[in-house]
Amino acid sequence: MRPTLAEISLKNLKFNYLSIKKKVKQRPVMAVVKADAYGHGMLKAVEALESLGDAKPFYYGVALLEEAVELRKSKLTNAPILTFSPVREDEIPEYLKFKIIPTFSSESQLEILKKYKVERKLKVHINVDTGMGRLGINYRTAFEVVREISEIENVTIDGIYTHFATSDEKNKSYALTQLGRFKEVLGELESENIKVGIIHAANSGAILDLPEAYFDMVRPGISLYGYYPSLETSESIKLKPVMKLVSQITTLKKVRKGESVSYGRIYFAKRNILAASVPIGYADGYNRALSNEGKGIVKGGVVKQIGRVTMDRILFDVTNAKVKVGSRIVLMGREGNKNFDAWEWSKILNTIPYEITCNISKRVPRIYVD
Ligand SMILES: Cc1ncc(COP(=O)(O)O)c(C=O)c1O
Repeated sequence: MRPTLAEISLKNLKFNYLSIKKKVKQRPVMAVVKADAYGHGMLKAVEALESLGDAKPFYYGVALLEEAVELRKSKLTNAPILTFSPVREDEIPEYLKFKIIPTFSSESQLEILKKYKVERKLKVHINVDTGMGRLGINYRTAFEVVREISEIENVTIDGIYTHFATSDEKNKSYALTQLGRFKEVLGELESENIKVGIIHAANSGAILDLPEAYFDMVRPGISLYGYYPSLETSESIKLKPVMKLVSQITTLKKVRKGESVSYGRIYFAKRNILAASVPIGYADGYNRALSNEGKGIVKGGVVKQIGRVTMDRILFDVTNAKVKVGSRIVLMGREGNKNFDAWEWSKILNTIPYEITCNISKRVPRIYVD
């Protein structure tokens, strides 16, 4: 078997989760496990979180009905599962069958809810758009729409939420504007005695730096997996990355001064070097834009990736690294006192760790190391 693996530390996942719980003073948590737990493996992540006894998640959050059904069918948890994507009419039977909670997020969906005759009541959460500008009922009309929903016989409002666009930025003024709009809607609903169930808003950025947004439950995603959502937040929760991408050196060869390696000849050896090939490439999520920029941690030291990243293979200059065929190499993550984690990748690729861990492809087996 190819030795390229994503090592997942469920111990670190639990550590991060409990650190978040502590930060929010043991408030209920909706663990966001969409996109296969940001590439870490949803079922294993849920299994680990479910082992935490009384501290375990109150809800789980996913993007899609398919993800929710997979989780429900696994029987790993009895917790409610919320999907963030707007519910489609043809999906409602499955929502009911698998006891999954859809998000209601636009006026046009009112008709779906109204005309659907069901024997059991459908629980929904309502997304209020306070400025994210993606999904949700506009905060200006939210009061009216929520009131209409509250009058639909077959529907129970189990919760109401909003989502921040900039809670991970240092300047919190827009997040505070969103929060103010949300509170205004909640105030109107309360004054009319309209029951909205569980109120939630805080993603990782808000959990770190906006305690006013905690309400009844918080919704961490990226922080569970050990990363701060941006480089601007506080680090007021200690986090440990959960995924480490590892492989082995499979061949070693001498490259003479002046010779090139790999496609496109973007790397020329400046002196005689020893080049190691490692069986990972862009088909595995090792982004091609890391060409000549990536790093590896091997034998306690850092080596440089050289030449174009190819579909299945990359090269490193290991001249000074005392490696041999079979030496373990860390391609993303921390080892010893060396670090080349998803934030280091993100700086090169002009992205965020979310995209990095999600993009480690299915071809890379996830192995659970503790
Ligand atoms: C509705 C919703 N809530 C919470 C989260 C978790 O956000 P984060 O990963 O920044 O903590 C997400 C993820 O994008 C989301 O879409």
